[in-house]
Amino acid sequence: MVQKGDCFEGEVIDFALPESYGIMRKNGLVVFVPQVIPGEKCLVRLTKIKPNYALGELVEIIEPSPFRKTPPCPHFQEGCGGCRLQFMDYGVQIRVKERNALTILEKIGGIVIDRVEYQGFIPAQNVFEYRNKMEFNFGEREGKLLLGLRPLNRYWDLINLEVCYLMPQTLSAGILAFFRDYGNTSHLSGYDPVRKEGILRNLLVRLSRTSHEVLLGLATVECTLPETERMIEGLRIRFPEVQGVVHIVNNSPASALIFEKKRLLFGKDSFIEKIGNIFYKVSLPSFFQVNTELCTVLYERARDYAELSRREMVLDLYSGSGGIGLFVARYARQVIGVEENPQAVEDAHFNAELNTIDNFHCFSGRVEKVLAFLPHERVDVVIVDPPRAGLDKKVVGKIAHLTPRRVVYVSCNIGTFARDVALLAEKGYMLRKIAFLDLFPQTPHFETVALFQK
Ligand SMILES: C[S@@+](CC[C@H](N)C(=O)[O-])C[C@H]1O[C@@H](n2cnc3c(N)ncnc32)[C@H](O)[C@@H]1O
Repeated sequence: MVQKGDCFEGEVIDFALPESYGIMRKNGLVVFVPQVIPGEKCLVRLTKIKPNYALGELVEIIEPSPFRKTPPCPHFQEGCGGCRLQFMDYGVQIRVKERNALTILEKIGGIVIDRVEYQGFIPAQNVFEYRNKMEFNFGEREGKLLLGLRPLNRYWDLINLEVCYLMPQTLSAGILAFFRDYGNTSHLSGYDPVRKEGILRNLLVRLSRTSHEVLLGLATVECTLPETERMIEGLRIRFPEVQGVVHIVNNSPASALIFEKKRLLFGKDSFIEKIGNIFYKVSLPSFFQVNTELCTVLYERARDYAELSRREMVLDLYSGSGGIGLFVARYARQVIGVEENPQAVEDAHFNAELNTIDNFHCFSGRVEKVLAFLPHERVDVVIVDPPRAGLDKKVVGKIAHLTPRRVVYVSCNIGTFARDVALLAEKGYMLRKIAFLDLFPQTPHFETVALFQK
C-alpha cells in the first residue's frame, strides 16, 4: 500500500510523451516523474495517488544519466511550457520520441514497424533558435505587467520571459523587453484569462529565414491602442529588421490568438520565405511550418512518396498557403488545393504566380464539404496535411471513394495519425513507407510523413 508523501528509490524505466514524464514503478504501481531520464536511479516522493497510477517528484538523482544536460534556458526550472526536454541530450530526445511514435503506431494503428518501409527519425540540425514564429502572452501579477509563455497545464499562469531560446535569443530578448516597457509606460494592463479582464493579450513574432525580416502582431481586447506612433518609432530605431506591425483585436473567450479585426500600424503584413526553390508569401495570420530548415526535408519526403512523373492529378488537402502543393507542382500535371482559411487561399494563388506555376489551383472551404464538389477527374495522388485533429472519418471515406493510387499523409499528431492509419486500412489503403522528422526539438512534438497504397 503506497501513500502520498512516501519516498522510494528506483530506476526510470521509460519515458511518456507528450506529457514528458519519466516512468518508474513502486509496488507494481506506475509512477510518473518529471525531469528524469530512462536509466537513472532516483529518490522520488509520491505527490498524488490515483487508482491506476501515481505522480511523483524528484528528491535526488542517485545515479545520473550520462545524457543529462544542464538546460541552457534560464526559464526551464520555472516550469516554462515552451520546451520540456532541455534536460536531455538531443540524441536521447530523438530516441524517446521514436520509441513513443512506434509504440502508438502499434497500439492504436495496429502497425508492426518491421512490416513497412521505416525510414527512421530524422533529427534537426539546429536544436535551438529554430522557430520562425512565436506567440507570447501578456498577463499581470501584483500590478506588474508580464509577457511570456504559459507553464505546462496552467492556462491561467504565466512565466515572465527575459528570453526565449526557440527563436534567435537577441531578437526574443529585445522584443520582449521592448513590449513590456511599452505596456508599462502606456499604463496598459495585461489580460487575465480567468477574469477575462485586461487590455494587452498576445504578441506574435514572425521571422523570415530567407529575408531576415520580422513581422509583429500585437493583440488587445479593445480597438484602441495608445501611443502607437511612439511605439512604432521606438521599434524602428531599435529593430530595423521589423518590417511590419499589425494591431489585432482579440476578444474571443478561446485561449488561441484569434484575428477578430486587424489594422496595419506600419509597413507590411506579409513576407517572403523560401523552401527548396519555391518562394512563399507568408501573411501574419496564415499557417506556415515553424521550422523552415527541416520543412524542406519534410516537403521533399512528401514529394518522393508521391512518386510523380508529370502526368498525375494531385489533390493537396489542408493546403495552407500552398506549401506542399506548390512544392510538388512542377512534378505533376495538375495540383488542386483545398483550404478553409481564405487569406491562405489568396496567398496560395499569389504564390503560384510568384513562382510562375500555372498548374496549381486552390479551392476555398472545408475539406469535408469541398471534396464532394471537385471536378470529376481521375485523382492519382492525394496529399493530406491536416491540423492536430487529423482526418474526419467521413473525409477518409471520401478520399477512398476517389480511388487514388497513393495517399501521402503529413501529420503533426501521432495519436490521430495512428487512428487514421486504421481508418485508411479499413478502406484498403495500407501503410507502405513512413518517416518521422524532428521539426520541434526540445519539445515532445514531431512530424510524420507516410505513404499509403491499395
Ligand atoms: C497543418 S496545416 C498544413 C498547411 C500546408 N500543408 C503547409 O505545409 O503549409 C493545416 C491547414 O489546414 C487548414 N484547415 C484546418 N481545418 C481545415 C478543414 N476542415 N478544411 C480545410 N482546411 C482546413 C488550416 O487553416 C491550415 O492551413
